Amino acid sequence: MAWHLSVQVDRDSSVPLTTQLQNAIKSRVEDRVLHPGARLPSSRQLAQDLGLSRSVVVEAYEQLIAEGYLEAVRGSGTRVAGKLPEPAGETSLLDERPATGARWDLRVGIANLANFPRQEWLNSYTKVLQSVGREGMDYPPVSGIAELRNELAGYLGRVRSVRTEPAQVMVTAGFAQGLALLSDSLQRLGIHELAIEEPGHNGQRRFILDTGITPVPVPVDEEGLDVGALHRSGARAVLVTPAHQFPTGVMLSPERRRQLLAWARERDGWIIEDDYDGEFWFDQLARPAALQEDDPDRVVYAGTTSKVLVPGLRLGWLAIPPKLYPLMERVRSRQDQGSDTLTQLAFAELMRSGLLDRHLRRVRSRYRSRREALAAAVRESLPEARLSGCAAGLHSYALLPPGTDEAAVVHGALRRSVLVRGGGQFRFSGPAGPPALLLGYGSLPLTGISDAIAAIGSSYEEARRP
Ligand SMILES: Cc1ncc(COP(=O)(O)O)c(C=O)c1O
Repeated sequence: MAWHLSVQVDRDSSVPLTTQLQNAIKSRVEDRVLHPGARLPSSRQLAQDLGLSRSVVVEAYEQLIAEGYLEAVRGSGTRVAGKLPEPAGETSLLDERPATGARWDLRVGIANLANFPRQEWLNSYTKVLQSVGREGMDYPPVSGIAELRNELAGYLGRVRSVRTEPAQVMVTAGFAQGLALLSDSLQRLGIHELAIEEPGHNGQRRFILDTGITPVPVPVDEEGLDVGALHRSGARAVLVTPAHQFPTGVMLSPERRRQLLAWARERDGWIIEDDYDGEFWFDQLARPAALQEDDPDRVVYAGTTSKVLVPGLRLGWLAIPPKLYPLMERVRSRQDQGSDTLTQLAFAELMRSGLLDRHLRRVRSRYRSRREALAAAVRESLPEARLSGCAAGLHSYALLPPGTDEAAVVHGALRRSVLVRGGGQFRFSGPAGPPALLLGYGSLPLTGISDAIAAIGSSYEEARRP
C-alpha cells in the first residue's frame, strides 16, 4: 500500500536531510499529528515522494525506531509506536474512563457493547444509504433533519409525555452539546448562574464551569431538589434530573414538582430537565411523566442515546420552549453546521421501523434483571446498606451506615479488583454526606453482579472492623 506522509525538507538548509526528516517526523509524533499506530510509507516510497536518496530515509527511520518513536512491524512496514505518553487534561463531560484492568467495573457511563443492536443499526443505516438523495448529502438544517425531528417529537410524547412539536426539537451531539448551547444562550439572556443538584455529576459541574456560567450547588434530599434552597440561591436557571436523580436515584416528589414549576413562574426562570435514563423504569407503577409536560414554556427537556444505545453515537436532543428556540438556533449556527446527517437518518429509521422500541423492550428487561440481581446481592452481602431512590436507570445508590469509612470500602474493593465510586465523588463543596456507594450495573454481566457485591461486602466488613 502506498501510504502517504505529508512532510517537507529544505534542500538549501545547512541541516542534514536525515536530521530534518527525523525532526519533522518526531515533532509530528510529539504533537500527535501522527497518532500511535499510524502507518508510514516505505522508505522507498517516501524517498521517491520527497526526491531523496533512499538511504536518507532509512537512516531517519532507523534513528526514530531506536529512540522509540517508530516501530518496524514485520510484514507491515513502519508505524508510529503504539505506546506514547497520554496527553494531559480531561475533556469529557463524563469523568469516567475506560476500564483499568479491574475485574468488575461498577462506574457509570461505561458503554455496554453487548447491548448495542448492531444488526438493527446496520439494517437502518444500509436502508438509508440505499435511498438517500442529494438532500441527505448536503449540509443539514442546523437543528436537525426533518425526518428525525418528526420522529423524536412523536417518540418523546409517546414514551415520556413530552409536549413538543418537531419545530421545537433540536438534535445535538449528546447532552454535552445541549448543555453548552444552553449555557451560552442563558448568558446571552443575562443569566450567569446555573443551579445544579448536590450531590450531582462532578464532570458535568466542571463542564458547566468551563462554559462560562457559574454552577450553584443546591442540596437534594429524599424528595429530590430542595426548592426552598433553590429560592434562596437567587439563581434563575436550574439543571435537574427529576426522573432519577443523579446519583442518589430519588424521584422528584409530586409536591416538589409543583414547587419547582411555581419557582420557575415566580422567578421568570428556566428549568433544564436532564432525562438521561428516562427510558429505563422497572417499578410496577407507571413512570411519572417528564416535568416538561407540565410547563413546556419554561422547561427545556433533554434526552440522549448515551444510555439507550451507546455514548459513542454522540446523539442527543432538546425540546425547547418556543421563546428560547430562535436564540438557541442562532447560538448553534455559530458553533457548527449541524449533526451528521446519515446518523440522524439511520436513527430516524430505527425509530420509524419500531426497531428502537423493540430494542428498548429487550434491554429494559435485561437491565431489570441486573437491577434485581443487584438488590438481591446487596441484601445478601451488604445487608447493612440501603438502596436509595427508585428502581430505574442503570445504577443504584447504596447508603452505608453512618460512621462507615467510605474511602476504606472503595479502596478495599479495588484491592479485590472491583472498581466502584464512593458518594464523596459526587459532592462539591457542601457538607460531607452520608457514606454511600454508586453501583453502576449497566455494563456488568448478570453473572458478575453477586461476585462484585460480595467483594464489596468483604471490603465493608474489613472497614468496619475495629
Ligand atoms: C447525569 C447525566 N446526564 C447526561 C448524560 C449524557 O450525556 P451525553 O448525552 O453527552 O453523553 C449522562 C451520561 O450518560 C449522565 O450521567
